[in-house]
Amino acid sequence: MWEDLKVLHRQNRDRHLIDLFAQDPDRAETYSIDGADLRLDLSKTQIDAPVLAALTALCDVSGLAARRAAMFSGEKINETEGRAVLHTALRRSDDSRVLVDGADVMPAVRETLDRMAAFAEAVRSGRLGGVGGSITDVVSIGIGGSDLGPVMATLALAPYSDGPRLHYVSNVDSAHIADTLKSLDPTRTLINVASKTFTTVETMTNARTARDWMVAGGGDPARQFSAISTALDLAAEFGIPADHVFGFSDWVGGRFSLWGPIGLPVMLAVGAGNFRAMLAGGEAMDRHFQTAPWARNLPVLLALVGLWHSHVCGYPSRAVLPYEQRLARLPAYLQQLEMESNGKSVAMDGSDVDGPTGAIVWGEPGTNGQHAFFQLLHQGTAVVPCEFIVGARGHEADLADHHRLLVANCLAQSQALMTGRGLEEARAKAAAAGFTGAELERQARHRVFPGNRPSVTLVYPQLTPAVLGQIVALYEHRVFAEGVILGINSFDQFGVELGKEIATSLGPLLAEGGSTAALDGSTAALIGYLREHGCC
Ligand code: F6P
Repeated sequence: MWEDLKVLHRQNRDRHLIDLFAQDPDRAETYSIDGADLRLDLSKTQIDAPVLAALTALCDVSGLAARRAAMFSGEKINETEGRAVLHTALRRSDDSRVLVDGADVMPAVRETLDRMAAFAEAVRSGRLGGVGGSITDVVSIGIGGSDLGPVMATLALAPYSDGPRLHYVSNVDSAHIADTLKSLDPTRTLINVASKTFTTVETMTNARTARDWMVAGGGDPARQFSAISTALDLAAEFGIPADHVFGFSDWVGGRFSLWGPIGLPVMLAVGAGNFRAMLAGGEAMDRHFQTAPWARNLPVLLALVGLWHSHVCGYPSRAVLPYEQRLARLPAYLQQLEMESNGKSVAMDGSDVDGPTGAIVWGEPGTNGQHAFFQLLHQGTAVVPCEFIVGARGHEADLADHHRLLVANCLAQSQALMTGRGLEEARAKAAAAGFTGAELERQARHRVFPGNRPSVTLVYPQLTPAVLGQIVALYEHRVFAEGVILGINSFDQFGVELGKEIATSLGPLLAEGGSTAALDGSTAALIGYLREHGCC
């Protein structure tokens, strides 16, 4: 299969995207696919009928349909950790049963969601306040999957936010918590500790610092702390009252956990109605993913185009470019979702993976990125497939001229990447700038854009809670589909462990000033320098 695709790639390597449009006037329509409220335009890639056929064959060969059914029904598809993968249950609104080890998980899901809504409502209405009055600020402490999703979604849904101000602290760097707390009132702040395990060192260190700050400032942690965890005993041990603790199960992976209690800060900001609308959006994408044929299935197509670019064309990275300032944290969110999930080199069966796995994902919102790294996208030697994301409407109806400019820039960039600018046109530009003779030739070369650079564009009417839910679920299922096709487990993350273990052993060494003789030379020398300069 991969060989067939590589042959197709070799055969078409020099084919220009512009020629594909010339050969097929319906190309844009053929390769624009709708799912829920989203439209994905793949036409500015080298995908054509034979490539698409070969790519969709990968879905059948890898058993994607069976694997998808197994995920939704609660089978333990996270085989290395022996866990089900059921974040989809958190956004399920029908009354069907989902069984894990023979027990229906849905009653607890619904009950927890209702408890979250009641808690959020109590805080938002002022019924549940702090020592000094109603809650004005919420500081949510978490990291990785217990932070990136809520941070991204809180910003994305800012137009719907009418609750307390939300702040997030993730980094163990004291700067993060100190800068966040310094302007807050400890008697009117709610601290939310979000940690699946309730053992993550960054989160627990920040949580203890926040508790000391609150006590010193006259607040009451027994009233003004909440927790989200699978480890209810540890949350209780920390002193958080049971009615402020929201549990979830190990069948929700950290980076897929926005939809349940980990999303509580989002609910505090935008209210339960908007949060449920986000869940409904995710559920709409679940239905699309489960029912649309491969060639019309948005998450599958995103996965297939991603694999075409990384596995077949050999492009190691992908830029995510939201032309939506409120999706500024989407690239960071996707970095964890995609790279922690699919950055693997061993297949599910323990064998080595053949070829590259997850692409390196990076990006910034447009138009800012245009004034930073787009130079490389247009004229650098590396080809970086781009994913443009833009809504038809912003939320500021009185500033529609801004939005028009935003959209024009988004469309212009994907067009420029595709069309490029040839030497003749570049010569005309150089001549217009006043150059002549040999200098004109030299200057013209610098003004050539190679073009033929692939991109996809995701469009939607407006960034509402439902559309956000669809976008997030789209990317989740893309990661899953890619993982199944590559034969890897997208749901474990053993690659984060070694560094954590070494940090645990270095911590006491830094604190107690012991000998570094047993360490490698570089680490020992760095510790020497840091000690000399006042650490630790
Ligand atoms: O470091 C990796 C990781 O385990 C992520 O997968 C997870 O999202 C994050 O740490 C935070 O973990 P926890 O929610 O248990 O604090």
